[in-house]
Amino acid sequence: MDFKLTEEQIMIQQAARDFAQTELLPGVIERDEHSKFPTEQVKMMADLGFLGMMVDPKYGGAGLDSISYVLAIEEIAKVDASAAVIMSVNNSLVCAGIEKFCNEEQKQKYLVPLAKGEVIGAFCLSEPEAGSDATSQKTTAIDKGDYYLLNGTKNWITNGGTASTYIVIAQTDVEKGHKGINAFLVEKSWEGFSIGPKEKKMGIRGSDTHSLMFSDVKVPKENRIGANGFGFNFAMAVLNGGRIGIASQALGIASGAYELALKYAQERVAFKKPIIQHQAIAFKLADMHLQITAARMLCFKAAFEKDNGEDISHSGAMAKLFASETAMNTTIEAVQIHGGNGYVSEYHVERMMRDAKITQIYEGTSEIQRIVISRGLTK
Ligand code: CAA
Repeated sequence: MDFKLTEEQIMIQQAARDFAQTELLPGVIERDEHSKFPTEQVKMMADLGFLGMMVDPKYGGAGLDSISYVLAIEEIAKVDASAAVIMSVNNSLVCAGIEKFCNEEQKQKYLVPLAKGEVIGAFCLSEPEAGSDATSQKTTAIDKGDYYLLNGTKNWITNGGTASTYIVIAQTDVEKGHKGINAFLVEKSWEGFSIGPKEKKMGIRGSDTHSLMFSDVKVPKENRIGANGFGFNFAMAVLNGGRIGIASQALGIASGAYELALKYAQERVAFKKPIIQHQAIAFKLADMHLQITAARMLCFKAAFEKDNGEDISHSGAMAKLFASETAMNTTIEAVQIHGGNGYVSEYHVERMMRDAKITQIYEGTSEIQRIVISRGLTK
């Protein structure tokens, strides 16, 4: 086993770090305050190849491995967790889903612009009454011969307002339960598709989250993904990979907060010495460092297994669960170490604490990850 990164992986990590420090850091507090989407920065991410990182270059991607992807998302999330989730959804849920499961025609039409970052994508599974219980889809797509008629509402959709291509999961045959679910490629411009107001969120406020409404939207037959009834298995398979992206985002939030807390603890003096010399603070930092290192190893393990074509349901869920709990614990302690300064925006850690919370919820709550992990134990 080799724990060393390759030269290429180090280069990607450095490029992501430089980009995050020079382009994301300057406006991150303002974007959070005003819930402003990082439009210019997302364009730059496209130019750097960060929106289709693992996609084959023949479809406009950067053709990199999943370890490079973990490294890049970590660096970006250290500074701006909103930019990281925009990137994660486009790469892991949208591009990866299309590349792995769509036919050549669908890839040429939809994957190429998404991988190049000319447009961005969204993944639409959650509904008002189907979050964790994802098989209870109420959105319907009724087979009308040449097309499906799509009706229903999706909730909390990341990139909901800015995306152009949407992967929409819908029930086509209620009698068949999850075997009657399909996934479709849907375009924003289609008649009957409307976008609800932007959600007012606790964290990741730079990302844009909306509900989506479909009212008699005609989806051409050729826009169904895979065989009839494949939609639920498609969604689960895609989410396994997506969880590596969110785990890496959580890892980045944790390591960003830890780095700020470590620096602060070395500079801030109380009772005549830097606070890091007080054991109460030093032990907090030791625990943070330990958890972050373990979370990073779990992310790498899941990424390694993905690149080897292994089943990553178990390792992806473990990485996502551990990294998101680490993000929450670490950011709470980073605020604590900063004391009163931690409670105001200019020190960044209060934002990071708010951003961390969603990593325990989206792409499967911590409770769902425990279901997936525990079911895997007896396989
Ligand atoms: N990987 C691959 N296949 C899986 C799977 C996994 N992790 N989990 C379930 N499946 C498959 C099963 O093998 C089964 O397939 P077959 O019938 O072919 O054998 C099928 O899915 C149904 O599985 P279950 O009977 O286990 O279904 P369930 O209803 O008991 O539970 C669940 C399924 C794991 C709880 C699932 O509903 C789930 O993962 N829920 C969470 C949904 C989620 O993560 N939502 C996130 C929304 S997307 C988002 O947040 C994106 C964003 O914008 C950031």
